[in-house]
Amino acid sequence: MRLTDLRGILQYIPQFRDKTFILAIDGAIVTDENFATLLLDVAVLWSLNIRVVLVHGASAQIKALADEQHLTASDLDGAGITDAATLKLALTAANRLTHEILEGLSANDLRAASTNVITAHPMGIIQGADHLFTGKVERVDVELLQWLLAQGVVPVIPPLGFDGDGKTYRVNSDGVAAAVAEELKAIKLIFITSSDGLIHRGQPLRQVPVAELAKLLQHDHAGFARDMLSKTQHAVAACRAGVPRVHIISGEVDDGLLAVVFSDESIGTLVYANEYQYIRAAKKKDVRAIQLLTKQAVEADELLKRSRTAIEQSLGDYFMFEIDKNPVACVALHVYAEQRQGELACLYVSSSHENQGIGRKLIQFVENKARELNLRELLVLSTQAFTYFQSKGGFAEGTPDDLPPPRREKYEQSGRNSKVLIKKLT
Ligand SMILES: CC(C)(COP(=O)(O)OP(=O)(O)OC[C@H]1O[C@@H](n2cnc3c(N)ncnc32)[C@H](O)[C@@H]1OP(=O)(O)O)[C@@H](O)C(=O)NCCC(=O)NCCS
Repeated sequence: MRLTDLRGILQYIPQFRDKTFILAIDGAIVTDENFATLLLDVAVLWSLNIRVVLVHGASAQIKALADEQHLTASDLDGAGITDAATLKLALTAANRLTHEILEGLSANDLRAASTNVITAHPMGIIQGADHLFTGKVERVDVELLQWLLAQGVVPVIPPLGFDGDGKTYRVNSDGVAAAVAEELKAIKLIFITSSDGLIHRGQPLRQVPVAELAKLLQHDHAGFARDMLSKTQHAVAACRAGVPRVHIISGEVDDGLLAVVFSDESIGTLVYANEYQYIRAAKKKDVRAIQLLTKQAVEADELLKRSRTAIEQSLGDYFMFEIDKNPVACVALHVYAEQRQGELACLYVSSSHENQGIGRKLIQFVENKARELNLRELLVLSTQAFTYFQSKGGFAEGTPDDLPPPRREKYEQSGRNSKVLIKKLT
């Protein structure tokens, strides 16, 4: 490991300390060879004072058990009809699985406890069909969970609910995870599955605002794979209930859990509730971030080299694009008031966030600013991204004669021979 990686991780610690994460693990992942690493990662999170609750499913194990006993389960995921025989299978499968998880946690020196924190009632009769022993989550025993967490104990929650009469119901683990995340005011709900995030009509969804995902569900739920529908619905429900970020990641990828927590990289799908990415004016502390961000592009001669002093002197022109409070892109608007012209400059999007439309958002942002200032045209000088500004930003090729005189002089001195692009605003 590089020491700089550690620095990268440390910047997230204050934000996550004493906060709660819910990990919703599919049964199939528990039998994956990567599961031991996943539990080691849970131990890492605990060591950083992040409170982790584990919720697990059991579909894969119910199916295996049914096959072993030459039975057909009436339902696997706790959403359909659970008959008496299937409930029996679910009890055996879920208990075995909880035990396996407890074993794995103690192998990592973590104290853990299997819990009965879900009060459930029968799902009832839906469209004429009695769902028998399928339950719906009625209440979460928050007090018990908080107490366990405060004692440093990892609560493990099986996909089973209990009613006041001591009857057990099979509940859907995604629903349990969403309810627990809401009640514990978790800041992250992470579904750990066999698939690398959500795909809609062949298009992977990387970062999607909850409103957009809800719209896709409403208008075209058939566009999602059937086995991901429940996660999609519960991701939306959890976000709407106040969980700011829901991730859906693959449990088969090494380091997936740590990467999703400690980096800005797009792993799987992130569904977010609030506007977690936004553009803001640069501050003094951003000067270094601007230099670090653009270093590579300067070396590749894509961007002009700017000294610390030069950035500081025109800091008011710079804007940062932040994701989760980390700057991942920047742009500047230099104004030539006399000529009523603006220059879009220093546009840079970090390579880990390319091709997500951030560049376009920043161009639009600068263009709106320029219009607000009643400028008549926007200029860009570019050596390697001129077709980008033409095709994605609506700029047209201009000439050095279009530059305002003071800028023209600098242009000639620089010898970079950049192309001049222009966009009329009036
Ligand atoms: C150019 C840059 C700002 C694009 O940012 P981005 O956020 O990745 O771009 P977007 O997501 O808005 O757009 C992506 C699209 O632009 C295209 N694109 C990206 N860089 C391009 C370039 N240099 N030339 C032409 N097209 C480019 C992509 O292929 C993609 O096309 P598609 O939508 O048809 O698949 C970014 O790559 C960058 O920082 N480059 C280095 C610095 C630079 O050249 N800055 C401009 C000088 S002021």
